[in-house]
Amino acid sequence: MLLAFFLLISTCSSSQMKDSHGIIDDTLSPDKVLIVYLSRTNNTKAIAEIIHKNVGGKLIALELEKPYPENYQATVQQVVTENETGYLPPLKTKIDSIENYDMVFVGFPAWGMKMPPPMKTFLHQYNLSGKTVIPFNTNAGYGVGTGFQTVKELCPDSKVLEGFEMKGGVERDGVYFVIKDEKAKEAEAAVKKWLQKIKVIKETL
Ligand SMILES: Cc1cc2nc3c(=O)[nH]c(=O)nc-3n(C[C@H](O)[C@H](O)[C@H](O)COP(=O)(O)O)c2cc1C
Repeated sequence: MLLAFFLLISTCSSSQMKDSHGIIDDTLSPDKVLIVYLSRTNNTKAIAEIIHKNVGGKLIALELEKPYPENYQATVQQVVTENETGYLPPLKTKIDSIENYDMVFVGFPAWGMKMPPPMKTFLHQYNLSGKTVIPFNTNAGYGVGTGFQTVKELCPDSKVLEGFEMKGGVERDGVYFVIKDEKAKEAEAAVKKWLQKIKVIKETL
């Protein structure tokens, strides 16, 4: 009885030690994984957290030195101008030792059917060459637009894998955070399926 108990405890602890969140690549430990995201109303954040739960790694939200206005239309206008002029808003967030990461997830909402300027700042500021880059996105139902294409353009020397996108909020219509309750379960299943398809995590039996 005592022996059985001892065996049970030792099996549990050794499987915990080996736990790499089901990552397929045995040479990639979770501390080589970075998940960077931009989120205004927390939908993209919810996807980032699901990825984190399944893959592990370091989760970092991008914050700006000067946040966008609360007002939606004012933000839309500011983003249009920034895109036209190529302005890259400075980030308050600083990432230590980017060279230590091998796999970088980059998540952002669709803004004007494009990658939001702060994510462009991140991709300009940090050198991701030689790394695997994996984009994800939430949008109001119109799709990611040119966002994933821009990831490829700004990371020409990275291996950019197939991205994940799903419908989040519709701030224009006063619909903010929606990836909760049933929709969170749906999101979790869809994210897992995608992570398995792109061969980041193992298929579960
Ligand atoms: C400035 C701005 C522009 C947006 N433009 C689009 C767009 O062009 N297409 C779209 O589908 N959704 C658009 N949205 C909606 C967001 O992409 C959507 O609500 C997303 O889920 C928000 O993610 P978040 O909660 O992580 O901020 C826009 C939102 C904002 C704030």
